[in-house]
Amino acid sequence: PATESKRLRIAMQKSGRLSVDSQALFTSCGLKINLREQRLIAHVENMDIDILRVRDDDIPGLVMDGVCDLGIVGENVLEEESLQRQLDNDSFDYTVLKRLDFGGCRLSIAVPQEEAYQGPAALEGKTIATTYPRLLGRYLKQQGVNARIVTLKGSVEVAPRAGLADAICDLVSTGATLEANGLKEVDVIYRSKAVLIQRKDLTDSKQLKLINKLMPRINGVMQANE
Ligand code: PRP
Ligand code: ZN
Ligand code: MG
Repeated sequence: PATESKRLRIAMQKSGRLSVDSQALFTSCGLKINLREQRLIAHVENMDIDILRVRDDDIPGLVMDGVCDLGIVGENVLEEESLQRQLDNDSFDYTVLKRLDFGGCRLSIAVPQEEAYQGPAALEGKTIATTYPRLLGRYLKQQGVNARIVTLKGSVEVAPRAGLADAICDLVSTGATLEANGLKEVDVIYRSKAVLIQRKDLTDSKQLKLINKLMPRINGVMQANE
């Protein structure tokens, strides 16, 4: 019937740095999920919740377009999508319910180890490869630097060696990837963590009730982790 409440849809990263922690958070909150099968949608057995497992880059858009009700995503991906949508005059509304205690990383400029670097002015006229062209573009603008941005969806760290770019702007967590590719981190342009976001126009009372039930559990899990 039309009055029946829809199941709450939560988007999480299918595979990558946030997926294990996202799944662990759901489990700690008491959600019984069967994620063994490689399916897009996993039904939560004991609550009116479906978990959608997608690429992290798709999560902000799914929530901003109201296709999913909640999502766990890195602030870097969220901010990049927001900046892109502002430029495209698309809607980019969402609410941050909670900044989570995992997924910490920084978006940094890195250059070949042997290169001298005395600040962002050194990037003038250079080519920089990144997966985050809008965040990088905003930073360069703030610094008054003109550089060419090459957008790569992956393997950004090999771009300098491959002769595709002079520098890169990529996520760093342990620094092992930079090290392995003969690069050094020279400027941090954005610090990121995972966040739980909600779509703006959520009005279904049962869904809101369910969220109100989940939030204290999430807070409890985070306090226990401290
Ligand atoms: C990021 C980044 C590097 C790696 C850095 O990739 O692009 O490849 O993490 O981490 P490290 O400093 O610990 O070596 P991510 O895991 O986000 O996957 P993706 O590049 O496929 O998006
Ligand atoms: Zn990604
Ligand atoms: Mg990578």
